[in-house]
Amino acid sequence: MERSLLASLLCVWALSSLSAASVDVIEQCPERILGNERRQTCPKKCQQDKECGNKRQCLCDGQCGLSCVAPGRMCPWPLPPGNNFDVALLSPSPSFSALLEVRCKPGFTMHNGLDTTIRRCQGDRQWSGDEPVCTASSGGGLAAEPVLVPEVSCSLPDDDDLLSVQGSASVGSTIRYHCSSGSVLIGNSVVCPPPKEVERGHLVAVQRTEYEVGETIYYLCKKSFLLDGPNQVTCLPNGTWSAEPACRARCPVPAQRSRVIVGGEKRWPYDLTDGVVAHGENVTFFCKHPEKLCSFTATEVCVDGQLKQPSCYLDPTWLQFKLFPHRLVSEIDACDPDDLQ
Ligand SMILES: *[C@@H]1O[C@H](CO)[C@@H](O)[C@H](O)[C@H]1NC(C)=O
Ligand SMILES: *[C@@H]1O[C@H](CO)[C@@H](O)[C@H](O)[C@H]1NC(C)=O
Repeated sequence: MERSLLASLLCVWALSSLSAASVDVIEQCPERILGNERRQTCPKKCQQDKECGNKRQCLCDGQCGLSCVAPGRMCPWPLPPGNNFDVALLSPSPSFSALLEVRCKPGFTMHNGLDTTIRRCQGDRQWSGDEPVCTASSGGGLAAEPVLVPEVSCSLPDDDDLLSVQGSASVGSTIRYHCSSGSVLIGNSVVCPPPKEVERGHLVAVQRTEYEVGETIYYLCKKSFLLDGPNQVTCLPNGTWSAEPACRARCPVPAQRSRVIVGGEKRWPYDLTDGVVAHGENVTFFCKHPEKLCSFTATEVCVDGQLKQPSCYLDPTWLQFKLFPHRLVSEIDACDPDDLQ
């Protein structure tokens, strides 16, 4: 098979974001297995769409292999209520290749010992497999005879040149496919889940359960909070958002009667707007040399509302501030670099 075609077949988005348990993989289709079939009929065998006439496509139909099927065909749905089991449709509609989960009620199992099975909507408009039968599992505790429970898994494409697979293939789990660069994800459309809400801010968007690739959403922070990250995020082709912005709080400056350096300027804290600095801003404090009458500096950064006071910093008293403003540590000469060795 040509590499590009193989890429197209393999790189099928297999995740329906609405259902936690849908796995729908187009893998290389098995050959039609004759004799080993529960089905009454298989549609016409094919290799390509053009062998199928204009209303049908050449699609993988489970044990029938590649067959001419009408993809719009529906399997029976809803199903009549079952004895001792519940059914749930795992795909958006009961059309060809849709998946149906059958789950026995608590305390009941199927004859293979499992309590869940998955059925697929076939080209003959029937759900795959036998009609489920759930019977009471023997008496509550452990059965006398241990039942070997086979691990039920989907088979996964293994061409890791083209795509990477995250997650386990066991029934009921969700799998994400990522195409490597150069190949493109086709098939079911990829969507992004709603972007993360931001504390102390809002998303400027209509609330939806999913967003299309390329859609952009804007973030705004509430007054006095600073946006950390871009002000917009875009839904990427792999179903994730391009960024996760956050709204960060400003920091009160833990100094009152001493100047500090903010944004390259030496200022009194009460001259700063609201006495605060923005997230990410550096604040440089003046500390006194332990023995000499000179100052050195220590810088702290405002991180989301938290600005530490450097351990060497001591806020002057009110009397010092009022009576000897020129002797405040922030106003005396800087120490000679040699004094600080
Ligand atoms: C999705 O794509 C972006 C950009 O190519 C990448 O940075 C990010 O890691 C991808 N996410 C996942 C979960 O693969
Ligand atoms: C704060 O200081 C650090 C380290 O010197 C520097 O990398 C950063 O750019 C400064 N931040 C601002 C807002 O000036």
